[in-house]
Amino acid sequence: MAVLVTGGAGYIGSHTVVELQNAGYDVVVVDNLSNSSEKSLQRVEKLTGKSVPFYKADILDRGALNSIFDKERIDACIHFAGLKAVGESVQKPWEYYENNISGTLTLVDVMRKHGVKNLIFSSSATVYGNPAIIPITEECPKGQCTNPYGWTKSMLEQILMDIQKADSEWNIILLRYFNPIGAHKSGTIGENPNGIPNNLMPYITQVAVGKLKELGVFGDDYDTPDGTGVRDYIHVVDLAAGHVKALKKIEAKAGFCIYNLGTGTGYSVLDIVKNFEAATGVKIPYVIKDRRAGDIAACYADASKAKKELGWEAQYGIEEMCADSWRWQSNNPNGYDD
Ligand code: NAD
Ligand code: WQD
Repeated sequence: MAVLVTGGAGYIGSHTVVELQNAGYDVVVVDNLSNSSEKSLQRVEKLTGKSVPFYKADILDRGALNSIFDKERIDACIHFAGLKAVGESVQKPWEYYENNISGTLTLVDVMRKHGVKNLIFSSSATVYGNPAIIPITEECPKGQCTNPYGWTKSMLEQILMDIQKADSEWNIILLRYFNPIGAHKSGTIGENPNGIPNNLMPYITQVAVGKLKELGVFGDDYDTPDGTGVRDYIHVVDLAAGHVKALKKIEAKAGFCIYNLGTGTGYSVLDIVKNFEAATGVKIPYVIKDRRAGDIAACYADASKAKKELGWEAQYGIEEMCADSWRWQSNNPNGYDD
């Protein structure tokens, strides 16, 4: 099976290309490099020993997509391409709706016109809003998102569900990721945020490498065991492996499915600091700050549906997540700019 990976030069995409190639799939990548570097794909090629056909193109560019589908054999698409910075989406809602929603509509239209009706979509636990049930099952009702980024995921889920409902030739799997961290164990590919990181783990690794002074912990008065926010952190390589399992489900005819991809275990911000220090031996100075607008107290998955139906469950624990994040950051203090 040949797979088009949109956003394949990015953090989760590059790790997924490794797992796909290792599992024997043919891969083609399209990415506009708006939040990534082509170097990630060169490093993927070193890891897998296979070449990664790459098109620098925007998924909003119908002509470019048409020519890729005309030229390449494509049976399925794993669709990572999108803008993902929560805070930026509040400042630039039009850009987020245009890129994520119009981009996906364009991609899906080009796919169907080429008779390619197999799609795996990167969704997010953010669609649950402030979750009504914890651990969160897929049956948990979707909630109010606190930012345009989250709404793009929630709206796209609805759009894709309606498309599959109207045409049962489509196989569409929505994967709701929890909090991906970690990096490939080689330390050669990893997360490469622009500017000051918004997410916890890249912030911690940049404190550890000396680029930032101290971590600000956003609130210690939540209703959680130590008062700091609890999340379900998942190793990016486990997440990548989940896409290979989802592809196998598509090959066996999936219809429309939704899966949480998380570990099922919640860790607080201070748990992560302690585990990072234990795994790496590097001290992380921190100060308690006010809560961050839009944050919730706790969010972790019930991942049993993916285990039952995809045969997938996370293999890596928090120690590997911390050690692997650190190996990537310490080997590449400036990400792909080194
Ligand atoms: P990333 O920014 O590293 O990767 C996204 C890639 O898409 C980038 O390489 C970027 O250049 C590309 N891209 C963006 N817009 C494009 C366009 N119009 N045309 C072509 N390429 C485009 O992000 P990531 O962390 O790897 O996330 C991948 C997907 O998973 C995104 O859809 C994101 O919303 C989703 N997701 C991420 C997280 C997370 O915490 N990282 C959690 C849940 C869901
Ligand atoms: C984790 C915890 C913070 C930074 C976001 C998106 C979500 C999804 C994943 C895409 C929280 C605390 C963080 C810092 C801190 N992305 N924190 N100091 O907010 O769970 O999820 O990324 O879909 O949509 O919202 O992840 O890593 O930002 O925060 O104390 O400098 O760490 O308050 O409790 P979050 P995060």
